[in-house]
Amino acid sequence: MSANPLKEFVVEMTRLSDRESDESRLFEQATPLMAALIARSDWLPEACAQPDPRFYRQYLLHCDPLQRFSLVSFVWGPGQQTPIHDHTTWGLIGVLEGAEHSQKYAEEGGVWRPQREEELLEPGAIDAVSPTIGDVHKVRNAWDNRTSISIHLYGGNIGQIDRHVFDPQSGRAKDFRSGYSLDTLPNIWS
Ligand SMILES: [Fe+2]
Repeated sequence: MSANPLKEFVVEMTRLSDRESDESRLFEQATPLMAALIARSDWLPEACAQPDPRFYRQYLLHCDPLQRFSLVSFVWGPGQQTPIHDHTTWGLIGVLEGAEHSQKYAEEGGVWRPQREEELLEPGAIDAVSPTIGDVHKVRNAWDNRTSISIHLYGGNIGQIDRHVFDPQSGRAKDFRSGYSLDTLPNIWS
């Protein structure tokens, strides 16, 4: 087991990005890296695990210098949730602590309708999104009395990517960029 799972992940994900650009092969080979990363949580710095009473937080853990991928910790306060949103790139979501509900959506006749059952994702679970396999979902903390944390890997610098939130009734899209909740990054090199 690595002394620093985050550093190990960054190194292996950089190697993977050097040799693969095909999305399905990236999913296949990044999934075991994500599984190893979320197998324990002691590597996540306190600063990147802090909830906020008003909004869920997204802390950048690493961004590839060529912006081929980024890694983020999502910290959900009790009962917090996203709007219906897309990513416009591929993403892998691994649950670290607590649990979250994920509801996928698809457009039907100009409105966004839930697809299948809402999924419960518990620690160790990994979910995937992308424009090719289904990119629109709504995520919420499954707990209303505790923090939940998931680790997200995206195919780009997710905080700066142009994305959309959707109104479920009108189907109307609104542009957004998520940014990041902190201007500092974990030091994996000390
Ligand atoms: Fe999402």
